[in-house]
This record gives sequence, structure tokens and C-alpha cells, in this order.
Amino acid sequence: MGVASCLVVVVFLLVASVDGGLGPIVTRQTRQVDPDAFTSEIDQELSVGPTYAPLVLDMYVPENCTNDTAVIDKLLNGTGYNKHRVPGGSGVQVNVEFWIQEITSISEITNDFEMDIYINEIWLDPSLNFETFNPCKQNLSLNYQVLDRLWTPNSCFVNSKIAEIHDSPFRNVFLMLYPNGTVWVNYRVKVKGPCMMDLSKFPMDKQSCALVYESFNYNNYEVQMRWSTAVPEAVYRLKEIRLPDFDLVDIESWHEAQMYPAGMWDELHVKMTFERRYVWYFLQAYVPTYLTIFISWVSFTLGPRAIPARTMLGVNALLAMIFQFGNIMRNLPRVSYVKAIDVWMLVSMTFIFSRRPGADAVPSAGSDKAAIKPVHQLFEAPPAGGIQVDIAVRKTTTGTGTADSSPGEARRSSHEAKYMFDVQRYESQAQIEQRSKWAAPCCRMRCPVWTPDRIDRASCVVFPTLFSIFNVVYWSYYSQAT
Ligand SMILES: *[C@@H]1O[C@H](CO)[C@@H](O)[C@H](O)[C@H]1NC(C)=O
Ligand SMILES: *[C@@H]1O[C@H](CO)[C@@H](O)[C@H](O)[C@H]1NC(C)=O
Ligand SMILES: *[C@@H]1O[C@H](CO)[C@@H](O)[C@H](O)[C@H]1NC(C)=O
Ligand SMILES: *[C@@H]1O[C@H](CO)[C@@H](O)[C@H](O)[C@H]1NC(C)=O
Ligand SMILES: *[C@@H]1O[C@H](CO)[C@@H](O)[C@H](O)[C@H]1NC(C)=O
Repeated sequence: MGVASCLVVVVFLLVASVDGGLGPIVTRQTRQVDPDAFTSEIDQELSVGPTYAPLVLDMYVPENCTNDTAVIDKLLNGTGYNKHRVPGGSGVQVNVEFWIQEITSISEITNDFEMDIYINEIWLDPSLNFETFNPCKQNLSLNYQVLDRLWTPNSCFVNSKIAEIHDSPFRNVFLMLYPNGTVWVNYRVKVKGPCMMDLSKFPMDKQSCALVYESFNYNNYEVQMRWSTAVPEAVYRLKEIRLPDFDLVDIESWHEAQMYPAGMWDELHVKMTFERRYVWYFLQAYVPTYLTIFISWVSFTLGPRAIPARTMLGVNALLAMIFQFGNIMRNLPRVSYVKAIDVWMLVSMTFIFSRRPGADAVPSAGSDKAAIKPVHQLFEAPPAGGIQVDIAVRKTTTGTGTADSSPGEARRSSHEAKYMFDVQRYESQAQIEQRSKWAAPCCRMRCPVWTPDRIDRASCVVFPTLFSIFNVVYWSYYSQAT
């Protein structure tokens, strides 16, 4: 057991290091949404608190400039601005950017994931150009009430289960207008989207979740939806995303034109790939299984006489495995294909179970000497029963007038011999042939005598070897798959 526990520790360390290596620490430049809001520093009283950066008041302000409210009034009141008219006349390009703030959950049971993202949409609306107004500021920061009076592409997630703009304490919509008519809208949205769960490699699996963003009202002659090319990644994380049991390892984004009955629509696809962090499963399923299997091998050393101890070890090990298996399965959907953990658990159970006929089913040496006759002795002679019957039948058929049989009995016997098929004789002859056929090569090869002790000693080598081979095959297959 010293060796076994040592092995467990080595395997554990190995997997811990592998997991650390598999989860790449993605370092990217993070974009700060609002870097100048405040800076945190330690003040004289040695307490940490935000100290507001001094407001820049000596900004250059043009003389006789038009202030924000005046600009909005001039733009939207009485200038013929129509929020139902698609800007630009011949179609507008909407550039989209997603900033992933947080992914809160991924559920295997409901096949979905939930996240908070900032959706950025940028388009040019020439009728909102206010360069000629001599504006006081080079951009106007506005809220959702102004947005309601502007044209918007009415885009949405077409495959989401739930999507809502955060509403507390007010609608989380940011709107910025530039003098050249560029509109930048930013929503903070909670979205629940679908995942295609393929658990066949569970718990060494990767799952991908996808979202499709498109304009709901306008086809691609009116609105061209595009991922923004102004930034290196149109979809990126504001920080590294690590869920309790998943890491976000990859984000893909692409654009597709999709045919609908009403025309062609531009779809923006984003696919996120999550890799499961399987340390929990390793600790909860694999390590206990290793221990259970190692303990079940202890019965080889108990000797063939210790039937109660061996049986108890075997049954307890099986029960423990079933319990662990049930615990893990409880949080998974009932899929109809084989998962990696199923393979593991079933093979491990087979290892524990197949140990029993090999070891425990051999009768103990003390109870019945005849039963532990070496295997080759069983094949040497045909069983006596067949021949005895054969002789008896022959005797009754030939000697009709023997003294020890009554006339009636003799008549019946001759009757049987004449009209009935001698099943016992036929069987015994076939058995003899069969046995001699099987026994001959075995005896030529001088096969070893399989006593329970020998079986135990062989099992001591064979079972760990088979289990090691299974481990190598299992881990190499499932770890290359991830
Ligand atoms: C600003 O307005 C005042 C009064 O209307 C006018 O006298 C002045 O010339 C204007 N300044 C500029 C730079 O237009
Ligand atoms: C903005 O300008 C208008 C007219 O030019 C003026 O009536 C209003 O008081 C100004 N508002 C602010 C906040 O300066
Ligand atoms: C512009 O229109 C809005 C709403 O339509 C109104 O509340 C506001 O008073 C108007 N402003 C002017 C200067 O007419
Ligand atoms: C908006 O204008 C202010 C100055 O008026 C400038 O400091 C700021 O960087 C501008 N923001 C953007 C996003 O262009
Ligand atoms: C409009 O102005 C913004 C900010 O100055 C700039 O980023 C953008 O490229 C301009 N758009 C066009 C079409 O000139």
C-alpha cells in the first residue's frame, strides 16, 4: 500500500500540473471603459479611498458656441429629422463590437450560458451632423431618452433565450454623438444563449456556445451589420473569464448573409469555446476510484481462505464506486451516448468485479480438497457416470434372463434398447471426444497447475498491468481529444 499511495500522489501531482498547463493564462491588453473617473491612492491617514481627479476646467471653449441642449433641439425639433428613415438613403453600415464583462454560468442541464456584455453599435447618420452649429464640445454624451428619438438598427440576438438591458437604477444605455453625425450606442445587456453540449468527452470536454446578432427589421440592402475593424478583436473580454468549472479559451466571430423569406439579412455570429476545469472531477471521481481499485487488490494478498474478507472488500468497493458514480451523474443531463467518465467508471467496476470470479469463486483449500484438483486432472479421464450407464444398458439388453432383474423390468429394458435412442451413451461419447481434444494440447504444453494461490499471485501482476495499460490508453485518448 506504500507503493499505491505513492502512486496516487504522483498521479495527483501530474494531473494538477497538466491542468495548470492546459488552462493558458491569456494576457491581453485590457481596455478600460472609463479610466479617468477616479484614481485610488493611499492618502495621509493611510486609508484607501477614491480621490477624484481634478476636473479640467480650462478646456478651450469656442466663443458664442452652441451648448448640448441647443444642439439637440436644433437637430431634432423642426429640422425634419425622421427617426423612421434609414440614414444615408442607400443603406447604412453598422459596426458592432462586444465587450464581455462577465460570464456568470454555464448549465449542462438546460444547455445554456449566461453573460453580461456591452454591445457597441456605431453608424453614421448624416442628418445628425452638427459641425456647422459651432458646438461647444466635440462629442455629446446622451441618454436613452434621446436615443428613443433617433433611428436605430433595431438589432437583437435572434437565438437568445433571454436578453435584457440592465435597468438598475436606470436604463444602462450610453449614447454619444459626434459632430460629423457618427452615433455610438452602448448597451449593457444580460443575455442567456444556447450551448451545443457534447458530453462524450466529459469531464475532459470543450463546449461551445454561440450567439447570433442581427438587425431585426432591416435587410442587408438597408442595414449592413459588420464586426468592427477599428479594433483588433471585435469580441473581447474586459478581463480573463474563469468560471468555477470552465475557462473561456477561444472566441470566434464571423459574418454571414442569411436568406429569409423577406430577403437577405446580415448575421453576426460569435462562438465561445469553454474548456472544462476537470480537477474537481479528478478529485471527486478519479482519485477515489484509484484508491478503491488499489484497495480491492489487497484481497489477492489475503490468501484463498479469507473468503468473508475478500467478499466484503469486493462488495464494498463496488458499492463505493456506484455511489461516487451516482454523485457525479446527478448534475448531468441524461444523454444517450457514452461519456468518458462512463467508460472510466464501467471499466473500473469491471476491474473490481472481474477480480471476484478469479479469486473468490475458487473454493477454499480447507473446505473441499477434491474441488481444488488441478485443472489438467479434470481433463485426464472422462467422468465415470457415462461409462457405468453404458455398461448397465448393455448388460440389460444382452442378459434378458439375469437373476437380479424381474421379467417385466427386463422386457421394458429390451423395449427401450430397441426403440429408444441411447442419449446418455451418445452424450458421454461426445464428451469424451471433446475433452480429449481440449486436454491434449494442454497436457502437451505442460500447463501450470492453477491452484488458488497461483491465481492470486498471477492476479497480483496481471491486474495492475491491465489497469496500467487501460490508464495509458484512456488518458492518451481523452487528453489528446481536448
Ligand atoms: C459673439 O456674439 C457677440 C454678440 O452677439 C458678437 O458681438 C461677437 O462678435 C460674437 N463672436 C464671434 C466670434 O462670433
Ligand atoms: C444653452 O444655450 C441656450 C441658448 O443658446 C440657453 O438658453 C441655455 O441657457 C444654455 N444652457 C446651458 C446649460 O448653458
Ligand atoms: C423639442 O421637442 C421635445 C420633444 O418633442 C420637447 O420636449 C422640447 O420642448 C422641444 N424643444 C423646443 C426648443 O422646441
Ligand atoms: C469627447 O470629447 C472630449 C472633449 O470634449 C474628449 O476629451 C473625449 O476624449 C471625447 N471622447 C471621445 C470618445 O471621442
Ligand atoms: C467622425 O468623427 C469621429 C470622431 O472624431 C471619427 O472617429 C470618425 O472617423 C468620423 N467619421 C467620419 C465618417 O468622418
